[in-house]
Amino acid sequence: MRKALIAGNWKMNLNLEEAALLVNRLKSIDFDESEKEVIIAPSFVYLPELVKLLKDSRVKIFAQNVHHEKSGAFTGEISIDMLKNIGVSGSIVGHSERRIIFKETDELINKKIKTAVKEKFPIIFCVGETLEQRMADVHEEVVNTQVGLGLEGIDEIDMNHITIAYEPVWAIGTGKTASSSDAEAMHKSIRNFLAKKYNKALADSIRILYGGSVKPENISELMAMENIDGALVGGASLKAESFIKIINY
Ligand code: 13P
Repeated sequence: MRKALIAGNWKMNLNLEEAALLVNRLKSIDFDESEKEVIIAPSFVYLPELVKLLKDSRVKIFAQNVHHEKSGAFTGEISIDMLKNIGVSGSIVGHSERRIIFKETDELINKKIKTAVKEKFPIIFCVGETLEQRMADVHEEVVNTQVGLGLEGIDEIDMNHITIAYEPVWAIGTGKTASSSDAEAMHKSIRNFLAKKYNKALADSIRILYGGSVKPENISELMAMENIDGALVGGASLKAESFIKIINY
C-alpha cells in the first residue's frame, strides 16, 4: 500500500511573513500520518525559520533543489549536508523549471539523485514532457527516458528514498491539467518501465505524484486513479484555503 503524498512547491514566491502565516495555518490541520504525508518546499532562505515553526508538526519541509557535491567551490549552491544540518527532510530534484530555464541535464540530475540516495536523503524526482513532445506522440518515450537516465546506477535497495513526480510541462502554471485518464496512462507507463528496469514489486512500491495545475476542484478525480499516489502542487499551495482543501481531498 502506497502512502499518499501531497507536496507544495512554493517556487520563488512569498515573503517571510506570508510564508510564516501559511505555515502556521498548515500546522493546525489534522491528517492521519499513517495514510498521508504532507510536504512543503519553500525558498531556501526561509528554511531555517520555517523548520523551527514546524517543529513537532506532521508537515515536513523539503528544499526545491540541491547540489550533488558535499562541499567546495560551488558559488550559490546548497549541499545535502547543509540542508540536513538545519532539519530539512529532503529535496525536489529535476523540476522542469530547473531543466528548461537553468539547463539542468539528465546527467546532472542523476548525480544529484546518486548523492541523495547515498546520504539517505529523500528526493522528489520530477519528469515531464513538453507540449510539442505530446503533440508528436513521443511523451511516454520522453518521460521514460528521463526516468531511466535520472535513475541510472541507482540500486533497487536505494529506490525507497525516491518519489517520482510526473509534471507535464504544458500543464504547469497554465490552468490546463492533464485529464485524469491521460495522467493515469503516463503513471502506468512509468510503473511498467520501473517493473522492467527493476521488478514488479519495486514498481508497485514507488510513489508517483502528478503535478501541473492541481486544484481543489481536480484533486479527488486525480487521486481516484490507481497509479496516482499524490500531487506536487505549485500555485494552489500558496494559499492556505486551496492547499488545505487539496490535502483533505
Ligand atoms: P502549478 O500547480 O502552479 O501548475 O505548478 C506545478 C508545479 O510545477 C509543481 O512543482
